[in-house]
Order: sequence, then C-alpha cells, then structure tokens
Amino acid sequence: MSADLTRVLVTEEQIQTRLGELARAIETDYDGQDLLLVGVLRGAVMVMADLARSLDRHVQMDWMAISSYGSGTTSSGVVRILKDLDTDISGRHVLVVEDIIDTGLTLSWLVSNLSSRGPASVEICTLLRKPDAQQMSVQVRYVGFDIPDEFVVGYGLDHAERYRNLRCVGTLAAGMYS
Ligand code: PRP
Repeated sequence: MSADLTRVLVTEEQIQTRLGELARAIETDYDGQDLLLVGVLRGAVMVMADLARSLDRHVQMDWMAISSYGSGTTSSGVVRILKDLDTDISGRHVLVVEDIIDTGLTLSWLVSNLSSRGPASVEICTLLRKPDAQQMSVQVRYVGFDIPDEFVVGYGLDHAERYRNLRCVGTLAAGMYS
C-alpha cells in the first residue's frame, strides 16, 4: 500500500512526536479542568486514538458523524448530522479532534453548532491544515502540521475509502486515482 505513494509528507515518527508535543500543551492548558474530546468520523479516528493515549490525564471521548453536501471532493459548508454526540456538553470543555482542515467550512459549521449547546469552551485540534483554512474565521488552537494544498492520504485520510490505515501521510501516485 505504501508503494502507491509518490511522496511522504509526514512520517509516522513525525506524527507521533508532534502529537506528543500537542498532548503536553493540552495537559498544561486544561490543567485542573475536565476535558471532552470530540472526534469527527471517520478521518479523525487515528488522531483521536494516538492523541488520547499521549495524554497523561483523564479525558472523555465522544464522536460525531457529519456529511457535507458537495461535489464529493469539495466542501460546500452545508452540513448534515449523521450521528450526534451522546454527551450533553453544556458547561463542558470541548476539544474537537480532526485529521485535516481544508477549506475550514466543516469546522466553522461544527464549532458554531457545538457553541450553541452552552459548553464552557470549544477549541480545535487538527493534525493537518491546508493553506485556505488559515484564512478562516474560526481559530484553531492546536495544529500538527501546515501542509501544501495537495491531495493527501493516510493516517485516517482516504481516497475512495482506501489508505486510511497507512501510518504516514503522503501524496498518491497519479495512476492510483483510477
Ligand atoms: C474531511 C475531514 C474534515 C473535512 C475537512 O472529512 O475529516 O472533516 O473533510 O474539510 P473542509 O475543511 O474543507 O470542510 P471527509 O468529509 O472527507 O469525511 P471522512 O472524515 O469520513 O473521510
């Protein structure tokens, strides 16, 4: 499977090192406070699993599944909830865990939706961020890596549901799109 990549953008070791650094920052920032990690299915599964296990503190985890209406490859910003949280987040500190922010439209919607439920705070942690997302109005507190505007797979990110189980993040060879 890894032979299908033309270039590795972020290695397994870089991912794990960076998640450790983010975990230390999160431990400091939320010291003495309860913390609910909210993962966005399906891409965030790997980041959630490794980030949560890097944290040397108690956390709770919950999941949302959302679907954006779009052409299939681009976000439209119009979002439908497929699976909502099982947790009441009012008064809770919520940290949304994502694999990638591309246009930022999904997270803009999600933060606005979660904020309307009366949480103590809503912040975002993403492993990857593309250039367009840096212009979005929603602040991203924890960013693993800023990457170029290229289509990437691996570590939760898919092409036609494949490559999510790669341990690194990379770009696909042209022949692998067919
Ligand atoms: C990806 C990613 C984010 C969203 C980011 O999910 O996990 O949720 O796209 O895009 P945006 O910043 O342009 O809104 P995707 O819709 O591919 O679903 P998946 O996690 O199930 O792969």
